[in-house]
Amino acid sequence: MKKYVWFIAVAILVLIPLLAACGGTPTPPTTPPTTPPPTTPAPTTPPPPPAATPTAIPHTLEGRDDCLMCHASGTYAVPADHAGRTNDTCTGCHQSA
Ligand code: HEC
Ligand code: HEC
Repeated sequence: MKKYVWFIAVAILVLIPLLAACGGTPTPPTTPPTTPPPTTPAPTTPPPPPAATPTAIPHTLEGRDDCLMCHASGTYAVPADHAGRTNDTCTGCHQSA
């Protein structure tokens, strides 16, 4: 008989913590896992503006080699950044349309 007493005693010792874990004591409310706020993608730096494209030449180039004769000043004057550019450079950028 003594064997059974020990068995029961051990069984109880094992069962008490087991039962306690299974529901003997109320489990503390589990806080929902806090999901980090959706990370907004780092603001991507806007791509640099495309390099200014040279305006197409709307007129024929025949007999108009001396670009600056007409474009040095006036309505169709070259922009300020064209200072120093010579006639032979013009068509390197400006293509006749
Ligand atoms: C005889 C005068 C004359 C000559 C020479 C001349 N152009 Fe013009 N160009 C004009 C006039 C006038 C315009 C305005 C548009 C039109 O009437 O065809 C113009 C327009 C242009 C434009 C467009 C300007 C705009 O504001 O849209 C470009 C670019 C241009 N010319 C480049 C050249 C280049 C490069 C040369 C030399 C290869 C040249 N031109 C030679 C008279 C001339
Ligand atoms: C290195 C390239 C380059 C060369 C060389 C060049 N241009 Fe230009 N040109 C441009 C570009 C780009 C623009 C438009 C942006 C700006 O205003 O600079 C322009 C603008 C112009 C315009 C005004 C067009 C408009 O829409 O208002 C005229 C006229 C012109 N060029 C004439 C000339 C003449 C004449 C020469 C030669 C003396 C010349 N360019 C040489 C790149 C060039």
